[in-house]
Formats: sequence, structure tokens, C-alpha cells
Amino acid sequence: MQKSNVYIETYGCQMNVADTEIVQGILANKGYDLTEDINNADVVLLNTCSIRENAEQRIYGRLGNIKTLKTGKPNLVIGILGCMAERLRTDLVEDKKIVDLVVGPDEYRRLPEFIDTAFAGEKGIGVKLSKTETYDDLIPFRANDDGLSAWISVMRGCDKFCTFCVVPFTRGRERSRSLESVVNEVKQLSNQGYKEVTLLGQNVNSYDDNGRDFADLLAAVAVVDRNVRVRFSTSHPQDFSDKLLYTISEHPNLCNYIHLPVQSGSNRILELMNRTYSIEHYLTIIEKARKIIPGVSFSTDIISGFPTETYEDHLATLEVMRQVRYDGAYMFKYSPREGTKAYRMNDDVDEETKSKRLTEIIDEQQKISFEINQELIGKEEVILIEGFSKKSNEFLAGRTDTNKVAIIPAEQNIEKGDYVKVKITKATSGTLFADVLKKVDLTIEEKHKTA
Ligand code: SAH
Ligand code: SF4
Ligand code: F3S
Repeated sequence: MQKSNVYIETYGCQMNVADTEIVQGILANKGYDLTEDINNADVVLLNTCSIRENAEQRIYGRLGNIKTLKTGKPNLVIGILGCMAERLRTDLVEDKKIVDLVVGPDEYRRLPEFIDTAFAGEKGIGVKLSKTETYDDLIPFRANDDGLSAWISVMRGCDKFCTFCVVPFTRGRERSRSLESVVNEVKQLSNQGYKEVTLLGQNVNSYDDNGRDFADLLAAVAVVDRNVRVRFSTSHPQDFSDKLLYTISEHPNLCNYIHLPVQSGSNRILELMNRTYSIEHYLTIIEKARKIIPGVSFSTDIISGFPTETYEDHLATLEVMRQVRYDGAYMFKYSPREGTKAYRMNDDVDEETKSKRLTEIIDEQQKISFEINQELIGKEEVILIEGFSKKSNEFLAGRTDTNKVAIIPAEQNIEKGDYVKVKITKATSGTLFADVLKKVDLTIEEKHKTA
């Protein structure tokens, strides 16, 4: 095989970021060189996202740019990986003929084969979804990250079929990695000096390895190294167990932070979305979590302008935001996706109304985040130092247990990877500013509580 340089760009969610590392691992193993310079590449891959229309538009735009590289380099192979590969395979390869390679999320093991096919002048296409593939045995290539925090996919696919969502179609059925393989990966990362891992899945609460559930997995990961913080995403409200809450409260290094997408505050809309919970049930989980894990904070996802959403439904969403008081939120305008159930509903909330409602939702969240952060002034937090702040080398940036960025003055004895106890002195809606109290060790630091 000729030696080739591969360049990859990643779009979409954290699972895609983790998948890119798996793909890089597979390619490096086969003797490919990875390059960060697109002009130096023989193979250009885009790991793509289909979640909303504008995500796909962005990638089509980028493909247009990349195609111009082909003029000077006719043998350049251009490929699409990830979720768009599943949704648009014929469009991309047969109709528009813009790419040489289309490989979906469950066929990455065969990517080298498909690249060879493309080099031979044929189209390399692998878009089968699998019921079992978890890439359990593969070691992701993490050369590009910071050596501090790592993503680990613990499950793939989704069986929830929320009516607005393409993920069950682009990622296939739900399946979990073995508990042992995840624990082993965390051990390796700990040995390499990593200080934070985030366990990923579209719905981690339905993790199941022969009867061992997500709480069992979290507990097993937490004891690998008490100085490694553990985060996870995403939880679906339907499968949230009390056992999971007690597990988080028992282990000092399991972060007090839960991403729990609500999507809408209206029961009628939640039902149309097939979210399978009511707002009352959702609020019960929040209340229980606050009792069991003092100081826990929440973030969420919200969609504005789902079909038939009325002004009252919209007000109900704002009301839930005020009740829960999320630390943060990812907020989106509804985007109809072909093939989903909601696509057959009438997209009857006009663009202007969607935008207006989204703006109100964003403003409300900004206000809440600002207030929550103001309340932290004078409080103590333990932050994990990630490096210099973006703006200046006179400051260091770190994250609190609840995932907020905190800025401290740079000090000689403090460096990336240290845990530091700080006192918050100032806050905006997005950032905390703090004074250093002392370096600490998570192993002896009592679980940090701000409540
Ligand atoms: N599995 C995760 C979410 C994955 S997608 C979960 O269930 O929470 C991330 C977010 O994108 C979703 O929570 C939803 O808020 C948003 N989203 C998904 N499909 C969308 C669509 N068609 N239009 C607008 N937002 C969408
Ligand atoms: Fe999509 Fe719903 Fe699955 Fe999340 S739980 S990935 S929103 S179908
Ligand atoms: Fe996008 Fe696929 Fe993730 S659609 S959000 S990259 S699972």
C-alpha cells in the first residue's frame, strides 16, 4: 500500500469527536499518516452531523470548498463519515457525485478497505448499521487532545425514537460496551496522566452490560483513580434511577452535574415528541437529585417551535426553566428532518415565531445563569486547571465540579492538571473569577458541596 496522509474534520456531538479518535486509531494502525494540514492530505474526511438542517448545510458548504483542492490534486480522495453518510448516501455519491467515499458510524473498521477502493477509482461505500459493533477492543488515537480530559463512548445508537430526531436512523440500535473494557480504558488514561473522563452515549441511562447498569459502570469507573474526575452525557429522564443519584453522591470524583434534556415544558408537546415523560415526572427527578446530591447542578436541551406549539406551550417551557434554574442550556429552533415522524406533522410555527421564542428562551437562560453565578461569589470551589486562560498568560483557567469555567491569577506552582481550591470573587453569566486558596488532592478532598 502506498503511504497516504489523512486529514479529518469533525462536526456534531461529542460522540463524533470520540468516533474520530477511533477512526484515527484504525488508520494509524494500518500505516496511514495523520495530518492536520489539509493541503498536505491525500485523503480528506469529514465526520458529519445531521441533527439539524443547518448542520448539513454547513457541511455541504465545506465540501464545495474542499472540491476545489481536487483541481490541483486529481487523485485526492474526499470522504463523508458519520451521520450524513447514513442519511444522504445516494445523494452524495450517486446524484451529486461530490464524494468518493461514504462510510457510516458502524463501518469504520473497514474504512482502510474503502479508501483503497476509492484510490482504485471506484466509490467506497459502507453504510450498514450494526446491532453489535461497539469498537470495544479498539484503542482511540488521542494525539490531538490535551492529555487532560478524554471522551469515552460507552454505548452506541439510540432506541428512543423521539419524533424530531434522526439519531436512531443514523446511529442504529442501542448497544453497550462491556464494563471491563471501559474500566480498562480509564485505567490506561489514568496511567497516562489524564485527569478527567466523560462517558458518552445518546442515552447513558439505558446502559446494560449483562444486567450491570449505568450506576454500576459509574461506580466501577469512579474507583479506578480518585484523582480522575468522571462526567457523563446524556441522560434521558425516562430511565433515571435513584440508584444512579445515590452512586453520584457516594463518590467524590463523580461530578455533581447532570445534563438532563427537557425539550419542552408542555406535556402536550412532550407527548407529540414521544419523550415518554411528563413535566411532573421530570420535576420529581430534579427534586430528588437535589435532595440526594446537595449542590448538584443541571443543564438541558430545549427545542422551540415544534409543530403545533402554541404561545401557552412556549410559556410552559419558560416556566420550567424558572422552576429548575438550569446552570446552562443548549437551545435550538425546531428543524424538520426527513424520515422522522415529526416530518409528517405540519411544520406550522413560522420562522419568525420560532426565532422570537428562541430569543426569549435564550434571554431567560442568560438571566438565570447570571443569577446562579452571582450567588457563587464568596463560595469555595475545587477547579481542575486546564491551562492558561484564552485571553492572557497571566491567568489560568479551570473547571468547577459543575462544569463552569473559573479564571485565577497564574501562580508559579500551579499548572495544568492540578486541582485547586478557590474562592469565587466575581462572575458573569459565562465565567467565574476566583482567588487561589490552595492546591488539593481529590482523594482526600471531601465531596465539594456549594449548597
Ligand atoms: N440523546 C440526546 C440528544 C442528542 S441530540 C438526548 O436525548 O438528550 C441533541 C439535541 O439536539 C437534542 O436534545 C435536541 O434538543 C436537539 N435536536 C435534535 N433533533 C432536533 C431537530 N430536529 N430540530 C431541533 N433540535 C433538535
Ligand atoms: Fe434523539 Fe431522543 Fe435518542 Fe436523544 S433520546 S438521540 S433526542 S431519539
Ligand atoms: Fe449529529 Fe449524529 Fe451526533 S446527527 S449530534 S453527529 S449522533
